[in-house]
Amino acid sequence: MTQSFTIRRPDDWHLHLRDGAMMDTVLPETARHFGRAIVMPNLVPPVVTGADAAAYRARIMAALPEGMSFEPLMTLYLTETTDPEDVREAAASGLVTAVKLYPAGATTNSHSGVRDFDNVRGVLEVMAEIGLPMCVHGEVTTHDVDIFDREAVFIETVLDPLRRATPGLRVVMEHITTRDGVDYVKSQEDMGGTITTHHLIINRNHILVGGIKPHYYCLPVAKREEHRLALVQAATSGDRHFFLGTDSAPHPDHLKEHACGCAGVFSATNTMSCLAEVFEAAGALDRLEGFASLNGPAFYGLAPNPETITLTKGDPVTYPAKFPVGEDHVTLFDPGFPLHWHVEA
Ligand code: NCD
Ligand code: ZN
Ligand code: ZN
Repeated sequence: MTQSFTIRRPDDWHLHLRDGAMMDTVLPETARHFGRAIVMPNLVPPVVTGADAAAYRARIMAALPEGMSFEPLMTLYLTETTDPEDVREAAASGLVTAVKLYPAGATTNSHSGVRDFDNVRGVLEVMAEIGLPMCVHGEVTTHDVDIFDREAVFIETVLDPLRRATPGLRVVMEHITTRDGVDYVKSQEDMGGTITTHHLIINRNHILVGGIKPHYYCLPVAKREEHRLALVQAATSGDRHFFLGTDSAPHPDHLKEHACGCAGVFSATNTMSCLAEVFEAAGALDRLEGFASLNGPAFYGLAPNPETITLTKGDPVTYPAKFPVGEDHVTLFDPGFPLHWHVEA
Protein backbone atom coordinates (compact mmCIF):
# COMPACT_ATOMS: atom_id res chain seq x y z
CA MET A 1 0.00 0.00 0.00
CA THR A 2 1.44 3.40 -0.86
CA GLN A 3 1.31 5.93 1.88
CA SER A 4 0.56 9.40 0.71
CA PHE A 5 -0.90 12.60 2.13
CA THR A 6 -1.61 16.12 0.97
CA ILE A 7 -1.09 19.35 2.92
CA ARG A 8 -1.36 23.04 2.23
CA ARG A 9 1.75 24.36 0.53
CA PRO A 10 4.20 25.17 3.35
CA ASP A 11 6.00 28.45 4.11
CA ASP A 12 9.42 29.07 5.60
CA TRP A 13 9.32 31.63 8.43
CA HIS A 14 13.12 32.11 8.60
CA LEU A 15 15.22 31.90 5.44
CA HIS A 16 18.51 33.26 4.09
CA LEU A 17 18.38 33.82 0.34
CA ARG A 18 21.65 35.79 0.18
CA ASP A 19 22.28 37.65 -3.09
CA GLY A 20 23.99 37.29 -6.49
CA ALA A 21 25.21 33.83 -7.54
CA MET A 22 24.29 32.22 -4.21
CA MET A 23 20.73 33.47 -4.49
CA ASP A 24 20.49 32.16 -8.06
CA THR A 25 21.41 28.71 -6.73
CA VAL A 26 19.28 28.57 -3.59
CA LEU A 27 16.12 30.49 -4.50
CA PRO A 28 14.63 27.73 -6.71
CA GLU A 29 15.40 25.20 -3.98
CA THR A 30 13.00 27.06 -1.68
CA ALA A 31 10.44 28.12 -4.30
CA ARG A 32 9.95 24.51 -5.45
CA HIS A 33 8.10 23.55 -2.25
CA PHE A 34 7.42 26.75 -0.31
CA GLY A 35 4.86 29.43 -1.07
CA ARG A 36 6.36 32.22 0.99
CA ALA A 37 9.34 32.87 3.22
CA ILE A 38 10.43 35.45 5.75
CA VAL A 39 13.64 36.64 4.14
CA MET A 40 16.48 37.50 6.49
CA PRO A 41 18.12 40.92 6.03
CA ASN A 42 21.71 40.06 7.05
CA LEU A 43 23.31 40.86 3.72
CA VAL A 44 26.54 42.84 3.50
CA PRO A 45 25.58 45.68 3.81
CA PRO A 46 22.37 44.79 5.66
CA VAL A 47 18.80 45.52 4.54
CA VAL A 48 18.08 48.41 6.90
CA THR A 49 15.62 50.80 5.25
CA GLY A 50 12.38 50.40 3.37
CA ALA A 51 14.28 51.40 0.23
CA ASP A 52 16.85 48.62 0.85
CA ALA A 53 14.03 46.09 1.27
CA ALA A 54 12.28 47.21 -1.92
CA ALA A 55 15.51 46.87 -3.89
CA TYR A 56 16.28 43.43 -2.40
CA ARG A 57 12.74 42.24 -3.09
CA ALA A 58 13.12 43.30 -6.73
CA ARG A 59 16.41 41.34 -7.00
CA ILE A 60 14.70 38.25 -5.56
CA MET A 61 11.79 38.46 -7.99
CA ALA A 62 14.23 38.96 -10.89
CA ALA A 63 16.16 35.82 -9.86
CA LEU A 64 13.03 33.66 -9.62
CA PRO A 65 13.01 31.22 -12.54
CA GLU A 66 10.07 31.55 -14.91
CA GLY A 67 7.14 29.35 -14.07
CA MET A 68 7.88 29.30 -10.33
CA SER A 69 5.71 31.17 -7.88
CA PHE A 70 7.06 32.46 -4.59
CA GLU A 71 6.39 35.42 -2.34
CA PRO A 72 9.30 36.86 -0.36
CA LEU A 73 8.15 38.41 2.93
CA MET A 74 10.70 41.10 3.58
CA THR A 75 12.31 42.10 6.88
CA LEU A 76 14.30 45.11 8.05
CA TYR A 77 17.54 44.74 9.97
CA LEU A 78 17.17 46.70 13.20
CA THR A 79 20.08 49.05 13.92
CA GLU A 80 20.55 51.66 16.60
CA THR A 81 19.98 54.35 13.97
CA THR A 82 16.86 52.85 12.37
CA ASP A 83 14.22 55.53 11.78
CA PRO A 84 10.89 54.57 13.40
CA GLU A 85 8.96 56.45 10.72
CA ASP A 86 10.71 54.54 7.92
CA VAL A 87 9.65 51.31 9.63
CA ARG A 88 6.08 52.56 9.97
CA GLU A 89 5.93 53.43 6.26
CA ALA A 90 7.49 50.18 5.09
CA ALA A 91 4.94 48.23 7.14
CA ALA A 92 1.98 50.37 6.06
CA SER A 93 2.80 49.88 2.38
CA GLY A 94 2.87 46.10 2.89
CA LEU A 95 6.53 45.95 1.89
CA VAL A 96 7.81 44.45 5.15
CA THR A 97 6.36 41.71 7.32
CA ALA A 98 8.72 41.89 10.30
CA VAL A 99 11.78 43.57 11.78
CA LYS A 100 14.80 41.48 12.68
CA LEU A 101 16.75 41.94 15.88
CA TYR A 102 20.33 40.72 15.94
CA PRO A 103 22.21 41.36 19.18
CA ALA A 104 25.48 42.83 17.85
CA GLY A 105 28.04 40.09 17.23
CA ALA A 106 25.66 37.16 17.83
CA THR A 107 25.89 35.56 14.39
CA THR A 108 26.77 35.90 10.68
CA ASN A 109 26.79 39.59 9.62
CA SER A 110 25.37 40.86 12.89
CA HIS A 111 27.95 43.59 13.66
CA SER A 112 25.41 46.33 12.73
CA GLY A 113 22.96 44.90 15.27
CA VAL A 114 21.84 46.27 18.60
CA ARG A 115 24.20 46.91 21.53
CA ASP A 116 22.10 49.22 23.67
CA PHE A 117 18.36 48.56 23.65
CA ASP A 118 17.62 52.10 24.85
CA ASN A 119 18.61 53.24 21.37
CA VAL A 120 15.85 51.22 19.65
CA ARG A 121 13.06 52.03 22.10
CA GLY A 122 11.31 54.37 19.60
CA VAL A 123 11.25 51.71 16.89
CA LEU A 124 9.98 49.01 19.27
CA GLU A 125 7.17 51.30 20.40
CA VAL A 126 6.07 51.94 16.82
CA MET A 127 6.17 48.20 16.14
CA ALA A 128 4.01 47.47 19.19
CA GLU A 129 1.59 50.20 18.12
CA ILE A 130 1.14 48.91 14.55
CA GLY A 131 1.44 45.20 15.35
CA LEU A 132 4.62 44.60 13.34
CA PRO A 133 6.35 41.48 14.70
CA MET A 134 9.99 41.39 15.77
CA CYS A 135 11.99 38.29 14.86
CA VAL A 136 14.83 37.70 17.32
CA HIS A 137 18.14 35.88 17.18
CA GLY A 138 18.03 34.93 20.85
CA GLU A 139 21.58 34.63 22.14
CA VAL A 140 23.65 36.82 24.42
CA THR A 141 27.10 37.68 23.14
CA THR A 142 28.89 38.18 26.45
CA HIS A 143 32.21 36.39 26.42
CA ASP A 144 31.81 34.98 29.89
CA VAL A 145 28.64 33.08 28.96
CA ASP A 146 29.24 29.58 27.63
CA ILE A 147 28.06 29.18 24.02
CA PHE A 148 25.71 26.34 25.02
CA ASP A 149 24.01 28.59 27.62
CA ARG A 150 23.62 31.70 25.48
CA GLU A 151 19.98 31.11 24.52
CA ALA A 152 18.74 30.42 28.05
CA VAL A 153 20.62 33.44 29.43
CA PHE A 154 19.22 35.65 26.64
CA ILE A 155 15.64 34.76 27.57
CA GLU A 156 16.15 35.67 31.18
CA THR A 157 18.38 38.73 30.91
CA VAL A 158 17.32 40.32 27.60
CA LEU A 159 14.15 38.98 26.00
CA ASP A 160 11.83 38.83 28.96
CA PRO A 161 12.78 42.30 30.31
CA LEU A 162 12.52 43.76 26.78
CA ARG A 163 9.03 42.30 26.26
CA ARG A 164 7.88 43.55 29.67
CA ALA A 165 9.16 47.03 28.81
CA THR A 166 7.28 47.04 25.49
CA PRO A 167 3.73 45.84 26.07
CA GLY A 168 2.00 44.69 22.89
CA LEU A 169 5.23 43.93 21.00
CA ARG A 170 4.76 40.65 19.12
CA VAL A 171 7.94 38.57 19.11
CA VAL A 172 9.08 35.47 17.28
CA MET A 173 11.91 33.73 19.06
CA GLU A 174 13.71 32.24 16.11
CA HIS A 175 15.52 28.96 15.69
CA ILE A 176 14.96 27.84 19.29
CA THR A 177 17.40 25.16 20.33
CA THR A 178 16.64 24.46 23.98
CA ARG A 179 13.94 23.22 26.33
CA ASP A 180 14.18 26.69 27.92
CA GLY A 181 13.22 28.28 24.59
CA VAL A 182 10.31 25.87 24.14
CA ASP A 183 8.99 26.49 27.66
CA TYR A 184 9.29 30.27 27.43
CA VAL A 185 7.55 30.57 24.04
CA LYS A 186 4.80 28.18 25.06
CA SER A 187 4.06 30.17 28.20
CA GLN A 188 3.59 33.49 26.40
CA GLU A 189 0.25 34.27 24.77
CA ASP A 190 1.49 36.59 22.01
CA MET A 191 4.76 34.88 21.02
CA GLY A 192 5.78 32.54 18.26
CA GLY A 193 8.81 30.26 18.04
CA THR A 194 10.40 28.90 14.90
CA ILE A 195 12.21 25.58 14.82
CA THR A 196 14.69 24.56 12.13
CA THR A 197 14.87 21.29 10.27
CA HIS A 198 18.38 20.48 11.47
CA HIS A 199 17.72 21.20 15.16
CA LEU A 200 14.98 18.54 15.04
CA ILE A 201 17.56 16.03 13.77
CA ILE A 202 21.03 16.72 15.15
CA ASN A 203 22.42 17.27 18.61
CA ARG A 204 25.89 18.51 19.53
CA ASN A 205 27.42 15.05 19.18
CA HIS A 206 26.71 15.19 15.45
CA ILE A 207 29.03 18.20 15.22
CA LEU A 208 31.83 16.96 17.42
CA VAL A 209 32.02 13.17 17.71
CA GLY A 210 34.38 11.33 15.35
CA GLY A 211 35.87 14.50 13.88
CA ILE A 212 34.53 18.01 13.50
CA LYS A 213 31.66 18.32 11.00
CA PRO A 214 31.57 21.92 9.80
CA HIS A 215 28.38 21.43 7.77
CA TYR A 216 26.49 20.80 11.03
CA TYR A 217 27.79 23.99 12.63
CA CYS A 218 25.23 26.77 12.90
CA LEU A 219 24.08 29.34 15.42
CA PRO A 220 22.55 28.86 17.83
CA VAL A 221 24.73 25.76 18.01
CA ALA A 222 22.89 22.42 18.41
CA LYS A 223 22.58 21.41 22.08
CA ARG A 224 22.29 18.15 24.06
CA GLU A 225 19.91 15.36 23.02
CA GLU A 226 17.41 16.27 25.76
CA HIS A 227 16.96 19.66 24.09
CA ARG A 228 16.51 18.12 20.65
CA LEU A 229 13.79 15.91 22.12
CA ALA A 230 12.04 18.97 23.58
CA LEU A 231 12.10 20.59 20.14
CA VAL A 232 10.65 17.49 18.48
CA GLN A 233 7.95 17.37 21.13
CA ALA A 234 7.08 21.05 20.56
CA ALA A 235 7.06 20.83 16.76
CA THR A 236 4.97 17.66 16.65
CA SER A 237 2.60 18.67 19.46
CA GLY A 238 0.30 20.77 17.28
CA ASP A 239 0.84 23.77 19.62
CA ARG A 240 0.12 26.89 17.54
CA HIS A 241 3.12 28.77 19.03
CA PHE A 242 5.57 26.68 16.99
CA PHE A 243 6.15 26.82 13.26
CA LEU A 244 8.80 26.01 10.68
CA GLY A 245 11.67 28.40 10.08
CA THR A 246 14.33 26.36 8.33
CA ASP A 247 17.07 28.95 8.86
CA SER A 248 18.45 27.50 5.64
CA ALA A 249 21.69 29.52 5.61
CA PRO A 250 23.97 28.65 2.71
CA HIS A 251 27.69 29.42 2.74
CA PRO A 252 30.15 28.36 0.04
CA ASP A 253 32.02 25.17 0.97
CA HIS A 254 35.42 26.87 1.19
CA LEU A 255 34.06 29.09 3.99
CA LYS A 256 32.45 26.16 5.84
CA GLU A 257 35.49 23.86 5.53
CA HIS A 258 37.82 26.44 6.98
CA ALA A 259 39.95 27.03 10.09
CA CYS A 260 37.26 29.53 11.18
CA GLY A 261 34.20 28.05 9.52
CA CYS A 262 30.99 30.02 8.98
CA ALA A 263 27.82 29.19 10.91
CA GLY A 264 24.84 28.05 8.85
CA VAL A 265 23.19 24.90 7.50
CA PHE A 266 21.66 24.79 4.01
CA SER A 267 18.47 22.71 4.13
CA ALA A 268 15.96 24.24 1.69
CA THR A 269 15.97 21.36 -0.79
CA ASN A 270 15.26 18.39 1.47
CA THR A 271 13.48 20.03 4.40
CA MET A 272 10.01 18.64 3.64
CA SER A 273 11.36 15.09 3.23
CA CYS A 274 13.34 15.44 6.48
CA LEU A 275 10.34 16.79 8.39
CA ALA A 276 8.10 13.97 7.17
CA GLU A 277 10.62 11.46 8.62
CA VAL A 278 10.73 13.32 11.95
CA PHE A 279 6.94 13.62 12.21
CA GLU A 280 6.41 10.01 11.12
CA ALA A 281 8.84 8.75 13.77
CA ALA A 282 6.92 10.78 16.37
CA GLY A 283 3.62 9.30 15.18
CA ALA A 284 2.50 12.80 14.21
CA LEU A 285 2.32 12.95 10.41
CA ASP A 286 -1.13 14.49 10.79
CA ARG A 287 0.48 17.47 12.56
CA LEU A 288 3.04 18.31 9.89
CA GLU A 289 0.57 20.59 8.14
CA GLY A 290 0.01 22.67 11.27
CA PHE A 291 3.75 23.11 11.83
CA ALA A 292 4.78 23.78 8.22
CA SER A 293 1.70 25.38 6.66
CA LEU A 294 -0.83 26.71 9.19
CA ASN A 295 0.63 27.96 12.48
CA GLY A 296 3.00 30.45 10.82
CA PRO A 297 0.37 32.22 8.70
CA ALA A 298 -1.95 32.31 11.73
CA PHE A 299 0.72 34.09 13.81
CA TYR A 300 1.34 36.63 11.05
CA GLY A 301 -2.39 37.14 10.36
CA LEU A 302 -2.11 35.72 6.83
CA ALA A 303 -4.21 33.09 5.08
CA PRO A 304 -2.61 29.68 4.47
CA ASN A 305 -1.46 29.10 0.89
CA PRO A 306 -4.32 27.97 -1.36
CA GLU A 307 -2.13 25.40 -3.18
CA THR A 308 -1.17 21.98 -1.81
CA ILE A 309 1.80 19.60 -1.91
CA THR A 310 1.64 15.82 -1.73
CA LEU A 311 4.11 13.62 0.14
CA THR A 312 4.40 9.98 -0.87
CA LYS A 313 6.46 7.30 0.84
CA GLY A 314 8.64 5.11 -1.38
CA ASP A 315 12.23 4.13 -2.10
CA PRO A 316 14.70 6.64 -0.67
CA VAL A 317 14.80 9.97 -2.51
CA THR A 318 18.20 11.11 -3.65
CA TYR A 319 18.87 14.79 -3.38
CA PRO A 320 22.12 16.31 -4.69
CA ALA A 321 24.80 16.42 -1.98
CA LYS A 322 26.11 19.73 -3.32
CA PHE A 323 24.98 22.54 -5.62
CA PRO A 324 27.32 24.63 -7.74
CA VAL A 325 27.76 28.32 -6.83
CA GLY A 326 30.16 30.10 -9.17
CA GLU A 327 33.48 28.21 -8.90
CA ASP A 328 32.47 26.72 -5.56
CA HIS A 329 29.64 24.62 -4.10
CA VAL A 330 27.14 24.71 -1.29
CA THR A 331 26.56 21.48 0.66
CA LEU A 332 23.04 20.30 1.43
CA PHE A 333 22.13 19.25 5.00
CA ASP A 334 22.70 15.51 5.44
CA PRO A 335 20.18 14.17 7.97
CA GLY A 336 22.22 10.97 8.33
CA PHE A 337 19.31 8.65 7.48
CA PRO A 338 17.49 7.76 4.27
CA LEU A 339 14.60 10.01 3.21
CA HIS A 340 11.62 8.01 2.00
CA TRP A 341 9.14 10.82 1.52
CA HIS A 342 8.90 12.22 -2.01
CA VAL A 343 7.42 15.68 -2.42
CA GLU A 344 5.24 16.71 -5.33
CA ALA A 345 4.45 20.39 -5.49
C1 NCD B 1 22.87 32.46 9.78
C2 NCD B 1 23.59 32.98 8.54
O1 NCD B 1 24.51 32.32 8.04
O2 NCD B 1 23.22 34.04 8.03
N1 NCD B 1 23.69 31.43 10.36
C3 NCD B 1 23.29 30.48 11.24
O3 NCD B 1 24.14 29.72 11.70
N2 NCD B 1 22.04 30.35 11.61
C4 NCD B 1 22.59 33.57 10.72
C5 NCD B 1 21.56 33.25 11.76
O4 NCD B 1 20.43 32.91 11.44
O5 NCD B 1 21.87 33.38 12.95
ZN1 ZN C 1 20.02 33.68 13.87
ZN1 ZN D 1 19.09 32.61 10.23
